[in-house]
Amino acid sequence: MTDLHMHVLPGMDDGSRDVGTSVAMLERSAAYGVDTVAATSHFYAEDNNIPRFLTRRRSAYGRLQEAVGERDDLPRLLLGAEVLYFAGMSAVDDLDALCLEGTDLLLLEMPFVLWTDRVLREVETIQRSGLQVAAAHIERYMDIQPRRTMEAFFDLGTFIQCNGSFFLNRRTARQALRMFRQGQIQFLGSDAHNLTSRPPDLGEAVQVIEKKFGWQTVDHFFAEADGCIGV
Ligand SMILES: [Fe+2]
Repeated sequence: MTDLHMHVLPGMDDGSRDVGTSVAMLERSAAYGVDTVAATSHFYAEDNNIPRFLTRRRSAYGRLQEAVGERDDLPRLLLGAEVLYFAGMSAVDDLDALCLEGTDLLLLEMPFVLWTDRVLREVETIQRSGLQVAAAHIERYMDIQPRRTMEAFFDLGTFIQCNGSFFLNRRTARQALRMFRQGQIQFLGSDAHNLTSRPPDLGEAVQVIEKKFGWQTVDHFFAEADGCIGV
């Protein structure tokens, strides 16, 4: 079971603030059966550049690896990023360096403003360049974008990632389960930042899905998701 979206690297962003928190986040994930975690620290082009981000990420990962040591009871980590959309990103030469380790999958955080045609075209261009876009926590946008914009976005054929909270929030659970049933979601993530306000909750979300559709469906879903990223 892969958690495709977690701010688990210590001191990288507004996620885990120290190594102890990171290890505890991994322990909690493992307790729910998560065996792979994508470490997707925020990448903001406005105040970062790719080489600097990669250097910081390597260092944070090194500190976490040191703390994890030889333990084999924790999920394995895949290094990635949650890249906030920025104009012109499709023309950035080394954009692929932000893809999930060993894949061509780019976890893209869409902007929290109305998406213009230009924004949608840029996403399309990224996809055409050979990268696979996975749109992070799509549920966060569905209330703020006009319906036709969302439809145009879905038509681009990106992968769709949803957060565990989408299934756990009473207000949105029905919609989450409906989208899951209709095959509109390809990846799930906790988008965990810590152990308290935004904890690793993927396992709890999966329990909700399993209760509704059965474990075979859940198994199939994660097999497909893992197949997409080749793990
Ligand atoms: Fe996130």
